[in-house]
Amino acid sequence: MTTDAGIARTLDPHAQDLLFRQARTAYSFTDRAVSDDELSSIYDVMQWAPTAMNAQPLRIAFVRSPQAKARLLPLVAEGNRQKVSEAPVTAILAMDIDFHEHLPVVSPQMQGARENLDSAIEARESMAAFNSALQAGYFILAVRGAGLSAGPMGGFDKAGVDEEFFAGTSWRSQVLVNIGHANPEVQFPRNPRLTLDQVAQFL
Ligand SMILES: Cc1cc2nc3c(=O)[nH]c(=O)nc-3n(C[C@H](O)[C@H](O)[C@H](O)COP(=O)(O)O)c2cc1C
Repeated sequence: MTTDAGIARTLDPHAQDLLFRQARTAYSFTDRAVSDDELSSIYDVMQWAPTAMNAQPLRIAFVRSPQAKARLLPLVAEGNRQKVSEAPVTAILAMDIDFHEHLPVVSPQMQGARENLDSAIEARESMAAFNSALQAGYFILAVRGAGLSAGPMGGFDKAGVDEEFFAGTSWRSQVLVNIGHANPEVQFPRNPRLTLDQVAQFL
């Protein structure tokens, strides 16, 4: 379907395949490099997806140099180490528990929101966790949309990563995402998805 101006209103089936049907989680990567422009293009797209109060609590550390990789590797679960070693880039996706400092700029219509959240650390943490997880999903789709493969990983020492990379800051690591060009020779058969009947009610 298109608008009067001829702009597509729905994703064409090829784009749907690229983002969802054909896209697979990557566990092994080729040597092909990922450029800074490609990494910037991921954020360029995902920044527009929604968060509560437009708060945008996600923060990203792109780990690419051998030195930075060497700091990360011991903090990753053993089963994930080879994946991190092979990936040209591993993004540490974190939440900023002081995201509210930006509210006067990103949500200027919400008078007093920053001041109200100043002393509400538990509310801030739960908002940051939920909305940064949403943004992590947007991030994975943006990686795929940039022609790259993503390999998200929860298996790592969060406290250790926070100490090593974010000490003295308000960033708290949430998930790692390997980014690169997937090695087509390493892939498992795809596991089934739940059916619409299993997950949805129409009321
Ligand atoms: C938040 C999150 C954490 C994950 N953690 C790990 C992990 O630590 N190690 C791993 O090998 N795979 C991990 N995965 C990969 C999932 O198992 C994989 O994305 C899922 O089975 C779908 O696979 P498919 O995209 O190939 O269909 C994780 C995925 C997500 C979204």
